[in-house]
Amino acid sequence: MIDISEIYFDKTIVLIPQGNIDLRFDTILKRCNIPDMGLCNAVNDIFEINYIIKEGKKMSVKEIFQPNVEFSKSARIKSMAEYQALQDEAINDYEGFWSRFAKEKLDWIEPFTNTMDESNFPFVKWFDGGKLNVSSQCIDRHLDSKANKTAILFEGDRGDTLKITYAELSKNVNKFANLLKNELNVKKGDRVVIYMPMIPEAAYAMLACARIGAIHSIVFGGFSAEALKDRIQDAEAKVVITADGAYRKDKPYMLKPVVDTALSGKTPVEKVLVVKRNNEEIAWLDGRDISYNDIIDNQSDECEAEIMDSEDPLFLLYTSGSTGKPKGVQHNSAGYILWAQMTMEWVFDVKEDDVYWCTADVGWITGHTYIVYGPLAMGATTVMFEGVPTYPDAGRPWKMVQDHKITQFYTAPTAIRVLHKMGEDEPSKYDISTLKVLGTVGEPIDPPAWKWYYESVGQSKCAIVDTYWQTETGGHIVSPLPGATPIKPACATFPLPGIMAEILDPKTGKKVGAGESGYMCITKPWPAMIRGVWGDEDRFVKSYFGDVKKDGKAVYFTGDGAKYDEDGYITITGRTDDVINVSGHRMGTAEVEAAIKKYNNVAEVAVVGKPHEIKGEGIFAYVVLKEEAEAESEMKAINGMIKQEIGSIALCDDIILAPGLPKTRSGKIMRRILRSIAKGEKITQDISTLEDPSIVASIESMVNG
Ligand code: WTA
Repeated sequence: MIDISEIYFDKTIVLIPQGNIDLRFDTILKRCNIPDMGLCNAVNDIFEINYIIKEGKKMSVKEIFQPNVEFSKSARIKSMAEYQALQDEAINDYEGFWSRFAKEKLDWIEPFTNTMDESNFPFVKWFDGGKLNVSSQCIDRHLDSKANKTAILFEGDRGDTLKITYAELSKNVNKFANLLKNELNVKKGDRVVIYMPMIPEAAYAMLACARIGAIHSIVFGGFSAEALKDRIQDAEAKVVITADGAYRKDKPYMLKPVVDTALSGKTPVEKVLVVKRNNEEIAWLDGRDISYNDIIDNQSDECEAEIMDSEDPLFLLYTSGSTGKPKGVQHNSAGYILWAQMTMEWVFDVKEDDVYWCTADVGWITGHTYIVYGPLAMGATTVMFEGVPTYPDAGRPWKMVQDHKITQFYTAPTAIRVLHKMGEDEPSKYDISTLKVLGTVGEPIDPPAWKWYYESVGQSKCAIVDTYWQTETGGHIVSPLPGATPIKPACATFPLPGIMAEILDPKTGKKVGAGESGYMCITKPWPAMIRGVWGDEDRFVKSYFGDVKKDGKAVYFTGDGAKYDEDGYITITGRTDDVINVSGHRMGTAEVEAAIKKYNNVAEVAVVGKPHEIKGEGIFAYVVLKEEAEAESEMKAINGMIKQEIGSIALCDDIILAPGLPKTRSGKIMRRILRSIAKGEKITQDISTLEDPSIVASIESMVNG
């Protein structure tokens, strides 16, 4: 912490925080002997404080927000001392720590005999010998005590609501499981692709697969037919579960036609199960297409849960990497569900009567772990929302908080920025006093968005948990604990207990010092870690364990850069590879480039990310055409190709039809230069060794005038 007696203020800006912060205006004035209040321009603003001159140097004051005292009293982890005690327990006896929680938190059909087996690292086994079923963890074990508690609280785009109790969830999932088994011949280990809107049947489908031991692979509903087809083929899926469509902004949209296109060629898919949601007309292929609504009520509502090994696969989820082809990230049963539950309990601190809402889509990992598996494993009430947060206006989420008395709200920085921009005062129009914890995930959050979230949504009393994690980690890895961690804006703070996350220097493998940047790594296997890339062992090893070694041993590298501050707090600085983050959606630049290359007039292409006010990052493409053509129509065609190959989520914000790309003499595209140009930065590096240095100036003038 800063020694206040040594601080000298820049005379023009001393904007002092009020409220829950440990640098107080009056204290500072007194301690610093500032006699004249007129010197100070004090406003109730926590973010503009920040420049203080100390010994002639500019440094920024760290704002620290202590946890809400009332909340801490009943939190599961109440103080940093308790946090440290847990982390020390894990450090001193790693396997003992995990074995204790696995026994405490999960219901085992047969107990495990070995906590962790890393003899074949990075292929690791957790809780070997144990038998359980993930759907039973999420449903059956709650039936005695919570049969009539709402498990899923659904709100449709049009405001229709549905409360599904644990007893009803059990029936629905059991029937669904019987349908898959008896009508579609799905067996343990078969892959089932789920391409669904945000309706309760999506959760039933996931849990039904888990119940019978089938491996689900959800494809986000915004992906195109081509993208869906690639994922179906890579997973060799036998069945696709979809819906006719759903509603967005009061209008129906369609999914089944996308599935039809995806399956038009040779396909491993035998059956398509179609759930009705919007009742729009759809094409039907007799023999292949099966109507869920016509046969679901013929199924028995009892389906014995398949007895699964701890390490039997639970699901695949495709995510972007640094090559063109998405990776099928594999998660297995016991370790994943354990960590999903533990992080729900620690990070959101959901209590028996709480109503928890995560706004993600089930098509992303956040939807898997924090809409379905985590909340249900701990027996919570989880809200599922079909619509968009800004429809009919930017007050929708706050109206939902009021209507359903929501206590935890978890969303992405992009959504926070949009809600802030479109409805700064909307939260104050509703009674949102039930909120206790606010979460953010998916991309770095910027201070202005954080501030609005903290003050206007959190009423300066809710903890903000900036949760850092990824598809591969299964659950949170670095995050504040709402009752314990003093938080700093836009800072993921500390590794969760049990997670040996460290920022390492990639060259030496040593932990970096305060203020230095390094690679965010995890130095010990953890239960919810990725178990493999489907069908590609080599890629698994190379993608995650090839870059950093600590004490001579390969460690898991997240792909993100990070740094510690002087108090040891972790800030994630963003990807170090060719992955960009558009509205919290992970996108490989190579994937977008591969799509653009399919347009026949494209000779060369390079895609980079560019900072975007709302989306975090936007996609910026430099394209060299084969033959000169009218710019506007070519740009349209290029974005059209992206829409067809990936989906609208990957459309370019900027396309520059460049005369060439800056390359080294060996032909390597200098993306760093292209990134700088896209950001409007001056090129300061030496470009004389490029194949054609004049290209840089021409592109620069095209982009920045
Ligand atoms: C980024 C989403 C900063 C990061 C759960 C990571 C974040 C990628 C944060 C994973 C955060 C996620 N602060 N960056 N709190 N959370 N990221 O697999 O770059 O879709 O590697 O998982 O999102 O994206 P994924």
